Amino acid sequence: MNAKTGNQRLSAVEVDMNAEGLVEVVLPGKVEPEGLRIRHGDVPAAGPGQVLIRMEATGVSFAEQQMRRGRYYDQPAFPFVPGYDLVGTVLATGEGVEPALAGTRVAALVKVGGWASHVLVDAADVVPVPDGIGAAEAETLVVNGITAWQMLHRKARVRAGQTILVHGAGGGVGSVLVQLAHAAGVKVIGTASARHHDALRDQGVTPIDYRTGHVAARVRELASGGVDAVFDHVGGPGIVDSWRLLAPGGTLVSYGTASTRDDEGSKQWPVLKLLGRVWLWHALPNRRRAYFFNIWAGRALAKNRFRARLRTDLTQVFAALQRGDITVRIAARLPLTRAADALRLAESGTVAGKVVLIP
Ligand SMILES: NC(=O)c1ccc[n+]([C@@H]2O[C@H](COP(=O)([O-])OP(=O)(O)OC[C@H]3O[C@@H](n4cnc5c(N)ncnc54)[C@H](OP(=O)(O)O)[C@@H]3O)[C@@H](O)[C@H]2O)c1
Repeated sequence: MNAKTGNQRLSAVEVDMNAEGLVEVVLPGKVEPEGLRIRHGDVPAAGPGQVLIRMEATGVSFAEQQMRRGRYYDQPAFPFVPGYDLVGTVLATGEGVEPALAGTRVAALVKVGGWASHVLVDAADVVPVPDGIGAAEAETLVVNGITAWQMLHRKARVRAGQTILVHGAGGGVGSVLVQLAHAAGVKVIGTASARHHDALRDQGVTPIDYRTGHVAARVRELASGGVDAVFDHVGGPGIVDSWRLLAPGGTLVSYGTASTRDDEGSKQWPVLKLLGRVWLWHALPNRRRAYFFNIWAGRALAKNRFRARLRTDLTQVFAALQRGDITVRIAARLPLTRAADALRLAESGTVAGKVVLIP
């Protein structure tokens, strides 16, 4: 599409969208999902360097479950529009942005603001979605795919023939991690609730029910010399087992504190405690490495490098989907205005796959 055609088509679409107006979901404070509010307004205009995206799919991530409890370590002050990532079509481009971007389907990682019919994003932060990948499919891979890819290939740097332990192997990040690991020739032991076990076995994962305890003992039975990497989003006291299960040369990748979601008190303290532990383990001479993975690391100091890496990695994940190395699971698609039901469903612990919000 040339720029002129793009802009002509765009102006027609824009008129329509402005007639519809902006719809966004607001998190007003610490509330139950039913406390989310719907707000209507005018569709914003793209400023210099920005694109206006018409959202086609956004999703419920673990972060929103923490944010509605005030438990995400650097969430903005209430009220705000949640929504960690989104996929949509570029409706308008601001000054200094290549006009040909209009009309293309893109993905964006935003941390907050995705639960809206129209979203402004810096053009440098969007990643093109290849033709043939649907918006909802692509959406399930933005935060989850980038996280899984970077932890596996940039932190643990796994190699074919290795064995890894993935906690929460049936979850959003975990399920992508498992498939990317298999594509790299790596064997996977995965913790999950029993309802995921059949699906995990079908994928070639050895499942362990974390709810019945004895995870460490079972992993030792399966991998007596230890595992080459552990991916732990749970934190809490169990992180010590994750560390001790490593074989010499192994890597612990800690990336969350899910076990403290329902706690009271400081939201930063559990993360700081974990960071301290991981840093110490990494620093001690023990032939093992330990990292805390943060998807936003490096953004403040080297924005262009951060963006280039994110674009490369998400593009790799989309390519893995196109090759059939990974498949996505969508638990439900609900309209944006039913965000409360979507959040309830995602928190119910009854679904497998991502709960996706559509316009
Ligand atoms: N650091 C970063 O940059 C970064 C980026 C993205 C995500 N994250 C973190 O990644 C985690 C997963 O996010 P998600 O969106 O994939 O969430 P999700 O889809 O809700 O999956 C989380 C999974 O965790 C499992 N789980 C809960 N307690 C567990 C335990 N004690 N042991 C093992 N598994 C347990 C649940 O398993 P069952 O369903 O089997 O019960 C659930 O499937 C969150 O903690 C999130 O904060 C971190």
